[in-house]
Amino acid sequence: MTGTEDHRDALAASGRIDTSRPHPARVYDWYLGGKDNYPVDEALARQIMSLDGTAQHVARTNRWFMQRVTRWLAREAGVRQYLDIGTGIPTEPNLHQIAQSVAPEARVVYTDNDPIVLTHAEALLRSTPQGATEYVQADVRDPARILEQARKTLDFDRPLALSLVALTHFLGDDDRPYALVSELVDALPAGSFLVLSQLTADLDPAAVMRGVEMYSASGVTLAPRTHAEVSRFFDGLDVVEPGVVTLTEWRPDLAVDEVSDPDAVISLYGAVARKA
Ligand SMILES: C[S@@+](CC[C@H](N)C(=O)[O-])C[C@H]1O[C@@H](n2cnc3c(N)ncnc32)[C@H](O)[C@@H]1O
Repeated sequence: MTGTEDHRDALAASGRIDTSRPHPARVYDWYLGGKDNYPVDEALARQIMSLDGTAQHVARTNRWFMQRVTRWLAREAGVRQYLDIGTGIPTEPNLHQIAQSVAPEARVVYTDNDPIVLTHAEALLRSTPQGATEYVQADVRDPARILEQARKTLDFDRPLALSLVALTHFLGDDDRPYALVSELVDALPAGSFLVLSQLTADLDPAAVMRGVEMYSASGVTLAPRTHAEVSRFFDGLDVVEPGVVTLTEWRPDLAVDEVSDPDAVISLYGAVARKA
């Protein structure tokens, strides 16, 4: 048994982790080949895989999008501060590792609402000595708390990047996702960026809606949004080229160690926008 498996089993035994139903962070971890998931998570992931055999590839594609965007923000846009909400279980390279490989002084605050991510915060906190990383256990539906905590590490008088990568589709319309994103963006100074990726049913409606039913039957909300609805998250901001696109279309020239799968339908849109 590996150390990771020991950690996973000890957590389950401690009762700190709910292993009776799947959790998005752990299902995603299974797709990415991680070991921090439980039979309920694997069962849902395998159900989705039986519907779409490329689901693991799509999860990796989302992770690669985050990596390309972070490279672009650090190299081209000169961003040195990041607030990443819906971080997920650490998977190397993590956002701070990419940002700090360009600028060791980069500062990153990670946030997730799943207690399993908190148990891995140590991996997220291995910062360069010149920079800083912090972890905040919080729900995006409480933006005031996230902002209050993030201010301890990040300087909100200087530009920063807010990243909501593969997060907003876990918010139903009742969660008022547009108001939440606006409240977070309103707190950012001019010159800051919003990064967002989100599931859509535009490209493969039958498969995505069947997936939504499977998640829903497991008690997890999954809310795909159209191109227009995803674009609405960026209202009032200047979307940088190439716009709101499927993830593989976003600056593929920045790819490192990515593989393509011509059979995969990438049912997520992503974009980066600047606050003027
Ligand atoms: C699909 S994972 C994405 C992880 C990472 N952002 C990435 O793209 O590689 C979604 C993450 O969002 C987190 N999440 C879901 N709902 C959330 C909420 N209401 N508040 C904070 N985090 C949430 C989950 O726990 C999970 O870790």
